[in-house]
Amino acid sequence: MTTYDQAFLQAASDPEAFWQSAASTIDWSKAPERTFEIGPDGLATWFGGGELNTCHLALDRHIELGRGEQVALVYDSPATGVVQRWTYRELLEEVSKLAGLLVAEGVTEGDRVIIYLPMVPEAAFAMLACARIGAIHSVVFGGFAAKELATRIDDATPKVLLTATCGIEFEQVIPYLPLVDEACNLASHVLSRRIVLQRAQCVTALKDEDLDWQQGLKTAPSVPCVPVPAEHPLYILYTSGTTGKPKGVVRDHGGHAVALLQSMSNFYGVQPGEVFWAASDVGWVVGHSYIVYAPLMAGCTTILFEGKPVRTPDAGTFWRVIEDHAVNVFFTAPTAFRAIRKEDPSGAMLENYDITSLRQVFVAGERTDPSTYEWLTDLLGLPVIDHWWQTETGWPVAGVPQGFADEIRIKPGAAGRILPGFEVLIVDEANQICEPGETGAVVLKLPLPPGCLPTVWRNHHRLVEAYLEEYPGYYHTGDGGYIDEEGYLFIMGRTDDVINVAGHRLSTGEMEAIVADHPAVAECAVIGIEDRDKGQIPIGLLVLKDGVTQTITQIQADLVLSLRTDIGAFANFKRVLQVERLPKTRSGKILRKTLRQIADNHTIDVPATIDDPAILDEIREKLVAASIGEVGRPSHGG
Ligand code: COA
Ligand code: AMP
Repeated sequence: MTTYDQAFLQAASDPEAFWQSAASTIDWSKAPERTFEIGPDGLATWFGGGELNTCHLALDRHIELGRGEQVALVYDSPATGVVQRWTYRELLEEVSKLAGLLVAEGVTEGDRVIIYLPMVPEAAFAMLACARIGAIHSVVFGGFAAKELATRIDDATPKVLLTATCGIEFEQVIPYLPLVDEACNLASHVLSRRIVLQRAQCVTALKDEDLDWQQGLKTAPSVPCVPVPAEHPLYILYTSGTTGKPKGVVRDHGGHAVALLQSMSNFYGVQPGEVFWAASDVGWVVGHSYIVYAPLMAGCTTILFEGKPVRTPDAGTFWRVIEDHAVNVFFTAPTAFRAIRKEDPSGAMLENYDITSLRQVFVAGERTDPSTYEWLTDLLGLPVIDHWWQTETGWPVAGVPQGFADEIRIKPGAAGRILPGFEVLIVDEANQICEPGETGAVVLKLPLPPGCLPTVWRNHHRLVEAYLEEYPGYYHTGDGGYIDEEGYLFIMGRTDDVINVAGHRLSTGEMEAIVADHPAVAECAVIGIEDRDKGQIPIGLLVLKDGVTQTITQIQADLVLSLRTDIGAFANFKRVLQVERLPKTRSGKILRKTLRQIADNHTIDVPATIDDPAILDEIREKLVAASIGEVGRPSHGG
């Protein structure tokens, strides 16, 4: 039997053989001619010469294998009270018809389709329908405001946009069409069609040029899969970076299929026929990889959950879903368990449910704090497995691979061991590899394995600039951390201006641009500070212009509204603090990292280039007085 070390070494020393073997489990329309080819920037193109279709792997293939009557998708919606199931055969019918509707609307191979939908099954149908005809989908998280949607419309230049009349957040119905109208007005690119799903909670008269989803389906033909080259884009998923403009992470059909399929058995330890539930949103990478594509390609039953861990209707919802659908493996963000723990500290709700089907819980998206880990482990008595990855990688980089669970233990605080196929290193500013235990930048050795981003949509230079230039030979993840003597990776947080708010990745640079636009603001810094519920939350530090008559309370109210309107409520921007000046280097660069360290009450690395160190004490006093951040908590004298 192969050990973890053997598998890791085999993948590192002979990636050709390792990935060729993984690729052999895929039902290619045309077998690849090459496993990979390395380009001038050090990235690989995977499975050149091969042809396949991801929708075929997710649906048609299972019917050929006799899995047609198995439940493929469960839609469980405490938001609407609906629970619905589709077998693989039924799901194929839904998807083939929707693909036919897209074709009837003129969508062909390579065209982009934006999917701006809440957590309804049609979101999964739409992704698979695009995949079926070789169209490239770009799902935009339903919580994003009109301006964010407009940015994505202009970058992806889609032919069609698929949306619904509303989303539902707790008991609140959120109409989508006003947001979509505004986004279309803001965008320069013109869509040729908007297809709208009428939801019973918000039936709306549609514009003449819009197409009613259900009406359109009535006359749509079912269409077969279009085989596409392995490197053909399957989707674009926009993610926040350091700059205000989101990056369009591209995923290919071939590398993605191979990487995801092997991850289901090798990493999550899930077999065909089992029930896999990722409680996330289709708008995020977790939703793409582990609500839709991987569980279906692996022949599992997947659950699409339209609800929250709490108040839909209570903190027992997750346990209810696990019992009702006999979930075997569950995956969510730690913030969801913090929300449950807050409402049900003793976990009493669990006593009402039988969750004996459950084997493991996987958590990712942000750091799992030890207290949440202990609470959950004690409550469930099951392995709680942290694992680390990002939109760009598409699948886990580190964790406890279930294929080697008897060799690799769960080490609280660690994201686990490196998965075979990846090579993770910690490097210092001089690009030297750090000693075990020494903290540095977390980088991935090039070439990246299949499934990772081959490019940024229509801007390959941006990929090179953002990820490859700083540490030559490596992909820079943007995270800091260390690897201990036993080879366990510890992720300590982002080293750039990306923050993680309740498992949502956001750019403080983007928020700062909105704050800076306020007429009263002379200068500002938006930083992410630690928060016990959400992991991190943003706050704005403002230097006001001379002669401003508005109070800081009024300015805060304006900015909270602007951030909600321009990005979305999920950014959780709620507080600002007025300061006299901001700490800067002598060349005028704002010291955001130092500000974060002060707010989080961490040891401060005062940069040698700081202009005036006295400002740091001023800021600390202000944060304490306003009870902001860890430094402002009562135990620190605030
Ligand atoms: N559409 C519209 N509004 C949304 C939204 C959506 N899809 N998602 C969140 N919001 C709104 C909320 O309604 C709330 O609005 P309010 O300020 O008016 O009350 C605000 O954004 C803040 O949302 P959030 O921070 O998400 O808090 P919440 O109480 O709604 O939910 C969690 C808490 C933990 C359930 C939620 O944050 C969550 O599921 N996070 C995990 C994210 C994830 O899956 N990440 C991927 C890694 S696994
Ligand atoms: P996203 O691209 O939205 O999935 O966010 C990826 C980022 O979330 C990573 O770069 C990390 O900063 C953070 N992240 C994801 N998983 C973990 C984890 N298990 N531990 C710590 N941070 C994580």
